[in-house]
Amino acid sequence: MLVAGWSYLESRTQYLTPLKYANIRKSLSSNSSILAEFVYFVYILQHISMEDTIDSLFNRRTIRKYRSDAVSDDLLNDLLNAGCRSSTTGNMQVYSIIVTRDESRKRELSPLHFNQKMVIEAPVLLTFCADFNRFNKWCILRNAEPGYDNFLSFVTAAIDALLVAQTVCIAAEARGLGICYLGTTTYMAHKIIEVLKLPKGVVPVTTITLGWPAEQPEQTDRLRLEAVVHKEAYTDYTDSDIERFYSEKEGRDDSRQFIRENDKTTLAQVFTDVRYKKEDNVYFSKMLLQVLKDQSFMNQ
Ligand SMILES: Cc1cc2nc3c(=O)[nH]c(=O)nc-3n(C[C@H](O)[C@H](O)[C@H](O)COP(=O)(O)O)c2cc1C
Repeated sequence: MLVAGWSYLESRTQYLTPLKYANIRKSLSSNSSILAEFVYFVYILQHISMEDTIDSLFNRRTIRKYRSDAVSDDLLNDLLNAGCRSSTTGNMQVYSIIVTRDESRKRELSPLHFNQKMVIEAPVLLTFCADFNRFNKWCILRNAEPGYDNFLSFVTAAIDALLVAQTVCIAAEARGLGICYLGTTTYMAHKIIEVLKLPKGVVPVTTITLGWPAEQPEQTDRLRLEAVVHKEAYTDYTDSDIERFYSEKEGRDDSRQFIRENDKTTLAQVFTDVRYKKEDNVYFSKMLLQVLKDQSFMNQ
């Protein structure tokens, strides 16, 4: 048992810093009783798996190209079970997850995700939905009057659904899988509702593509922590803070290339004039509000 355990540890040492690895070896050899070694071994395994998860959080990147290898039902169920351990408002679990593997269904969904290639190429698509339908039905069957046909309840269910989605992503990435969120879900919710046959009380809030990575893209940049964290209360940004926080991003080669490719003079313009334009935002915003009405979330 311990020998097998050791080989496992040896195989995972690339995840450990040399100092931690040396300490683990030292502690194990100085423990005389088998039981102590076993207890310590279990502790190390837990520690390593926590290290692995944090490691995968720091090293993650969105994956948009996938190998054709299948994601087994067992593995997918593990990820979904992990997702369903997420915190959920009042333990109501007001979400549903639609698993799409079928080629023809993917083809129906593809244009609704603006023909992004990974929708067809990824072996699995997961659509996470805010869902009060199931909970409402339970209330009615149990002589309880549901009061969830309002915007607050939509937000509650959307938060629940997004927490599950992100936990599934963390679990997937920790297992070496790749994911990509699809923001197109909220743009085209009305059509996705038709394809996935979502009843009233159910609204898709995000989709992820899931599969084994066929690429290892560069990690994208992030604003430094100081730019996004406020101590005790919000400190509003001065112009010089904004200069300081965004100039690093603007100075990157990929940002400069992005500006050139889009024929703009600043990086911000690429966002306002090309990627997330006001007219599009207004248009899709109206559509989403209509979806919330149609799906019975705006009745008061
Ligand atoms: C809500 C949401 C929607 C997204 N939608 C898309 C999308 O439609 N297509 C895409 O290629 N990436 C999409 N992404 C991925 C982001 O582009 C990506 O997370 C971001 O550029 C940072 O890169 P990284 O995840 O590799 O760090 C989305 C991410 C989020 C959180």
